[in-house]
Amino acid sequence: MKLEVFLDQHQISQAVERLAGEIQRDYEGMDLLMLGVLKGSFIFMADLVRHLRLPLEMDFVRLSSYGDATESSGRVSMTQGPSGEVKGRPVLIVEDIVDSGLTVDFLMKHLARQGPASVRICALLDKPSRRQVPLSIHYLGFQIPDLFVVGYGLDYGEKYRHLPDICVLKQE
Ligand code: IMP
Repeated sequence: MKLEVFLDQHQISQAVERLAGEIQRDYEGMDLLMLGVLKGSFIFMADLVRHLRLPLEMDFVRLSSYGDATESSGRVSMTQGPSGEVKGRPVLIVEDIVDSGLTVDFLMKHLARQGPASVRICALLDKPSRRQVPLSIHYLGFQIPDLFVVGYGLDYGEKYRHLPDICVLKQE
């Protein structure tokens, strides 16, 4: 496998700062619950929250739709749900990348049953050409073409998550 830098650390941190600014403005004075989707969002979440000056709480959920392949299985399951109270709270889903949209759609439907005050999506990356269900992403870092990317939390078979840049993974 060959790695090519697609978005470097500087581009990523600029996008994270911009998104944090938008979130700060929209959730000022609110009791925000940020819900990271494991494992991919852990670095993005960690960088994002350190720019926020809000009385926020963080929680994580674990969903799976991918095995070790680069194609979605189309089936989503929740292996770890939110541990705290969602009812009546503004919730912001923090996702590394939205591809088919099935993962976030599943999570939105799951959360809706718990009566949150609102649910919005914050995603670092979006591959709109791959979408299978309509979604609106309120806070988006970058739209990207149909490429398989790794780094900054994103993996291929559990590898490459630690890379500081987002790279395209190509077969040699
Ligand atoms: P979706 O359900 O098809 O939208 O897929 C979302 C999940 O698939 C993400 O949270 C990632 O874990 C994974 N995924 C989708 N595209 C990529 C990619 O290009 N690189 C690494 N993981 C990806």
